[in-house]
Amino acid sequence: MGTGVSARRYSVVAILLHWTSALCVLALVGLGLVMAHAGLTPMRQFQLSSSTKGTSRWGSPCWS
Ligand code: HEM
Repeated sequence: MGTGVSARRYSVVAILLHWTSALCVLALVGLGLVMAHAGLTPMRQFQLSSSTKGTSRWGSPCWS
């Protein structure tokens, strides 16, 4: 007689990927809060958030 509760587990790789992605999401939330409250001028915010549009100090992406 079973208990009706399945003991099926995810693989170690799946669990590691899940928690790695969870850490990345939480890190993004923290990074977003830091960026929003870093006291940057609107122009600096624009420059840093436009890094893929070829307007940042890191230069243009190769496809533009
Ligand atoms: C901030 C990000 C995340 C947090 C904090 C989080 C947290 C959790 C927690 C606490 C559980 C329950 C774990 C357990 O029962 O042992 C869970 C389960 C699960 N998570 Fe996440 N998770 C995150 C992101 C994601 C993402 C990005 C995906 C998929 C793309 C995902 C897919 C799943 C799935 C499918 C389960 C169910 C696992 C099961 O059936 O036992 N999670 N998550």
